[in-house]
Amino acid sequence: MLVAAVNWSPEWRPKSRRHVLAAPDTAHYIAGWPRETDLGVVAEVDGERAGAAWLRFFPPDDPGYGFVAADVPELTIGVAAAWRGRGVGRALLDAVEARAKEAGIARISLSVERKNFAQKLYLAAGYEVTGAGTAQSDTMVKFL
Ligand SMILES: CC(C)(COP(=O)(O)OP(=O)(O)OC[C@H]1O[C@@H](n2cnc3c(N)ncnc32)[C@H](O)[C@@H]1OP(=O)(O)O)[C@@H](O)C(=O)NCCC(=O)NCCS
Repeated sequence: MLVAAVNWSPEWRPKSRRHVLAAPDTAHYIAGWPRETDLGVVAEVDGERAGAAWLRFFPPDDPGYGFVAADVPELTIGVAAAWRGRGVGRALLDAVEARAKEAGIARISLSVERKNFAQKLYLAAGYEVTGAGTAQSDTMVKFL
């Protein structure tokens, strides 16, 4: 699902699973999973794994793309291509937020490219664009 999230745009040459799991800027989203503070959910349809959403805390010296603070975990979400556009992503978002609340997490951050329709999903779910980000991407935060 990390590979799916990295390769969100059909216009780009997809990065291989090997590359995604070797490059530090993407590998650190799942390296050593599960750490004590990691939290995530998997969507299953008839026993088939359709998607996943997870939260990981990053330190300031190894930040994720959507880093805002060491006590704010960053969201990653990916749905298998065959299951997209059928409500799985929204359900994953709701589920991971519910788990985060139970764990006492107050804020969630993420990074999304402005061209990715996923940004509309995040806006509809209550994430707000922060001042951080790049020319192509926004950092968004939701207060739970
Ligand atoms: C982004 C992603 C997680 C969303 O999951 P999903 O299961 O496809 O989304 P859902 O079916 O729950 O739809 C969520 C919303 O997006 C809209 N949507 C779904 N597919 C869409 C598409 N291709 N284009 C535009 N909007 C779309 C839906 O209409 C829905 O909005 P609504 O609630 O107002 O009806 C999934 O498409 C995915 O894995 N994409 C590739 C990886 C990625 O982009 N990850 C996020 C990186 S920041």
